[in-house]
Amino acid sequence: MSEPRFHAVADLDSLPLGQGRTVQVGNRRFALWNIEGQFYAIDDDCPHRGGPLGAGILQDGRIHCPLHGWAFDPKTGAGFSNPAKPVNCYPTKVEQGQVWIAF
Ligand code: FES
Repeated sequence: MSEPRFHAVADLDSLPLGQGRTVQVGNRRFALWNIEGQFYAIDDDCPHRGGPLGAGILQDGRIHCPLHGWAFDPKTGAGFSNPAKPVNCYPTKVEQGQVWIAF
């Protein structure tokens, strides 16, 4: 397995506070969220039935899947609804007007 490296995934201006969306690099999809000015990246595919977590609902610092509402911690990937099924989370950085994700 190769070392993670950063990939630019979004213009900084394209993701306002409190918003999330799905970003794609090759065949990998990530849910990218701007929460209080910090960017968080987790797997986009919900481990329940694949709902797009980038299209989820942010409430009380948790991302809720748009399909059936499973909740995840965007900072750790922990699953609140089903602790046995977390998602991966990925380091992010802001540089050159872009948001980057390491994977
Ligand atoms: S697909 Fe996410 S809660 Fe069902």
